[in-house]
Amino acid sequence: MKVIEIKDAARLDVTATVQPVEAASHAPGEIYYSDAVYQLEKEQIFKKDWLCVGRVEEVEKPGDYTTMRIVGEPVLITRNAKGELNAFANVCLHRGVEIASGDGNAEFFSCPYHAWNYDLDGNLVGASFMRESVGFDSKSCKLKTLHVGQWAGWIFINLAPQPAMTLEEHLRDYVGDLSMLKMENLRLGTKVVLDLPTNWKFVVENLMDVYHVRTLHYNSFGKHRGPPENFPFLLRQHGGTFTRYEARPMTPDAVSLFGKMPALEHEPENFACSSHLSPNMQVIARIDNVHPLVMWPTSPTTSRTIVYNLYPKEWFDQPGFADKLKVYDDYIRLVLAEDVTMMNSLQNGVTSGNYVPGRLSTLERGIHHVLKDYMDKIGGAKAA
Ligand code: FES
Ligand SMILES: [Fe+2]
Repeated sequence: MKVIEIKDAARLDVTATVQPVEAASHAPGEIYYSDAVYQLEKEQIFKKDWLCVGRVEEVEKPGDYTTMRIVGEPVLITRNAKGELNAFANVCLHRGVEIASGDGNAEFFSCPYHAWNYDLDGNLVGASFMRESVGFDSKSCKLKTLHVGQWAGWIFINLAPQPAMTLEEHLRDYVGDLSMLKMENLRLGTKVVLDLPTNWKFVVENLMDVYHVRTLHYNSFGKHRGPPENFPFLLRQHGGTFTRYEARPMTPDAVSLFGKMPALEHEPENFACSSHLSPNMQVIARIDNVHPLVMWPTSPTTSRTIVYNLYPKEWFDQPGFADKLKVYDDYIRLVLAEDVTMMNSLQNGVTSGNYVPGRLSTLERGIHHVLKDYMDKIGGAKAA
């Protein structure tokens, strides 16, 4: 028997889920709405794992910065005068207010509450009316530094004081699978942000659910896809997956508006691949575009999904480029709107007293791999 210990709630029996996929059932409904489970996720996953927080071109020039909250933790990312990337706890050393908000370009940050000033390296460089505070030495004060790293044009951070592994170790399998996309040569065209009334894991699972595509999405992209049994899920470390399959570009008539990306010029028109980077990122590629998605929990029953639409740098100067991007943007919004109707219904369904987790199809092998890793991380690996 395998159980997850959760405070203020009965132990969650996940034995049926962690069986081999052919014998397994879906996860207990509480996984998708329990506050106690959400607290475990925060501590055991989001405050321990390497997390993708954006593209390097979003903080490209000296002085560029961006802010975010990750499971409530305020984070500030800056590029300093020397062009180095930094990540800090966006928590003022005086009383804890977020010293920066949104994104932009700055030479320094002035806390909006009492105006303590910080430079781009997080050093406290000014604090008025503090001379009489005995023993207070502003020169020794610095925002808490977070671990930060880069790969393929992406920024990753880790909220743990001492991460259990390096970013390179975390990415080991994914680098081999995804290097062919040369994402470092791509650039962010558009970013679509969706705040959804659904647990973040439903979005993660939905993105690797090849079982639903020819049903739910038949009238959009489903009819342009190969049969679902042609999706060989390769199972990777830490709950990661990689699959290469056949699918047409993500436009209304499934024809590329650009042609092939230089990195994929030797691949067929129906090239597609998809990879789950644990814990919350899905890199999806077509012949002409890579559109990774990152899913963030914002509460036990709400989440934010960010779609990064990437294109080769050299395409950005083409005439009509912005109009073409809008076609891709609108189409991905349409497809995700189809998914959202199902995820809303899932969120409601798992709270029903009549919900009993059903058996998995072997087409759900990827979801099963992710769920098992998730349960290991939040404590379900222990035999009771
Ligand atoms: S909380 Fe930032 S200066 Fe007071
Ligand atoms: Fe879908």
